[in-house]
Amino acid sequence: MLLRVAMVTVIFSLYVCETKAEEQDQVYTQCGGKVDGDHGVIQTPYFPIPFPTPIYCKWIISAPHDRKIIVYMTQFYLRDSLDVYEYDNYEEMSSNSLGHKLTSVNYTTSYIVSYKPFLVLRFAVHDLDKIHRWVLDYVVDVFGFNITYKLAGLNDEVENGCSVFYCSYLGNCYASSNYSTFKCHCFEGYFGEMCQYGPYCDPPRANLCLNGGTCRYFSGSQELNCVCPEGYSGRGCKYPPLSIRHANCISLGCSQRCETVEDTFGNETCRGRTFTEHNKTICGYCTCDEAYRLADDDKSCLHIDKYRVTVTVFPTTNSSLKFPKMENITLTDLERSYI
Ligand SMILES: *[C@@H]1O[C@H](CO)[C@@H](O)[C@H](O)[C@H]1NC(C)=O
Ligand SMILES: *[C@@H]1O[C@H](CO)[C@@H](O)[C@H](O)[C@H]1NC(C)=O
Ligand SMILES: *[C@@H]1O[C@H](CO)[C@@H](O)[C@H](O)[C@H]1NC(C)=O
Ligand SMILES: *[C@@H]1O[C@H](CO)[C@@H](O)[C@H](O)[C@H]1NC(C)=O
Ligand SMILES: *[C@@H]1O[C@H](CO)[C@@H](O)[C@H](O)[C@H]1NC(C)=O
Ligand SMILES: *[C@@H]1O[C@H](CO)[C@@H](O)[C@H](O)[C@H]1NC(C)=O
Ligand SMILES: *[C@@H]1O[C@H](CO)[C@@H](O)[C@H](O)[C@H]1NC(C)=O
Repeated sequence: MLLRVAMVTVIFSLYVCETKAEEQDQVYTQCGGKVDGDHGVIQTPYFPIPFPTPIYCKWIISAPHDRKIIVYMTQFYLRDSLDVYEYDNYEEMSSNSLGHKLTSVNYTTSYIVSYKPFLVLRFAVHDLDKIHRWVLDYVVDVFGFNITYKLAGLNDEVENGCSVFYCSYLGNCYASSNYSTFKCHCFEGYFGEMCQYGPYCDPPRANLCLNGGTCRYFSGSQELNCVCPEGYSGRGCKYPPLSIRHANCISLGCSQRCETVEDTFGNETCRGRTFTEHNKTICGYCTCDEAYRLADDDKSCLHIDKYRVTVTVFPTTNSSLKFPKMENITLTDLERSYI
């Protein structure tokens, strides 16, 4: 534990030195304030160590009318707590400035774009325990967020960002030095664009995902998943889509999705209903979105509950900090409550 704290401190101070050297890079480490410049980094106070609570910070990013504002949620280790508003006009003390809430940041958010001249990030946390996300084994020592923003031309393309979720909780997402690209920097033993490859989802086993499915392993879960290309479904993405969705399929009354496939599976029974189309036997059946499974009625979808996740309590030198203990939570819970 002491070693961990020491390492974090070293990384932190190195980082501070580095930013001083590169003066065109703006790093906002205060709780809120005006943010200007073409690009920069916005952090919770003391990132990556805990910020004091309760806390309320408001960052105001402004842009000229011919520029848009893009905020990349590169490193965001909280749940809820950050709301994003945009304004045509923003005056600190005036209640006349009518704003529009763009979004509340969640674990899937990788970037936010605004075409208005003012973007305001409102950050409010009463209790750290309630909003901090924990994942064994890697993402336990980071608190708050370290995100980047940049101004771009109205017609400029928005680069894809990344996030700790995108990086499978197995790496950090960092911006390149000129904020033009975003990449997962994987922890030792993991690799791949999303850091999903490693001891669990290694390339030979990743071949379990057919039809161009992508093997995903999230830190903490005990099972690998295949994320199937649009239309493909089934374990390992084995069921291909059929171009035409047949009315017979829709009439099954699936709670999430209905798929059709030519019935060429020999004795494998159709889990839905078979019908004939252009002299071919077609099987129509219900499927569920990721993290759900088909119930016994072959129509409704249930949360998958077989994922066992171990999230340990961070041993803290400050016994006043209390953290929730989570065990045996589902992948869906995990995504909801994670980091
Ligand atoms: C996360 O936020 C996005 C908008 O930023 C929204 O479309 C999506 O439904 C949200 N997801 C969850 C799980 O809340
Ligand atoms: C904060 O984010 C920037 C940009 O992604 C990155 O270069 C920097 O290393 C991050 N700082 C820490 C302490 O992780
Ligand atoms: C950012 O840097 C890369 C090389 O590191 C370069 O190819 C690219 O043109 C730069 N982008 C901008 C907008 O300066
Ligand atoms: C289907 O099952 C029957 C008997 O159970 C068997 O004779 C036949 O070869 C099987 N067909 C296929 C395609 O597996
Ligand atoms: C279906 O099969 C019948 C007889 O085998 C044939 O006459 C008919 O043209 C076929 N229809 C289609 C759409 O292929
Ligand atoms: C840590 O403990 C000290 C003294 O026990 C206390 O003053 C401080 O507020 C605590 N910090 C946190 C983050 O709870
Ligand atoms: C988690 O699962 C294990 C074994 O499946 C069980 O022994 C344990 O009691 C469960 N823990 C909780 C909090 O449900």
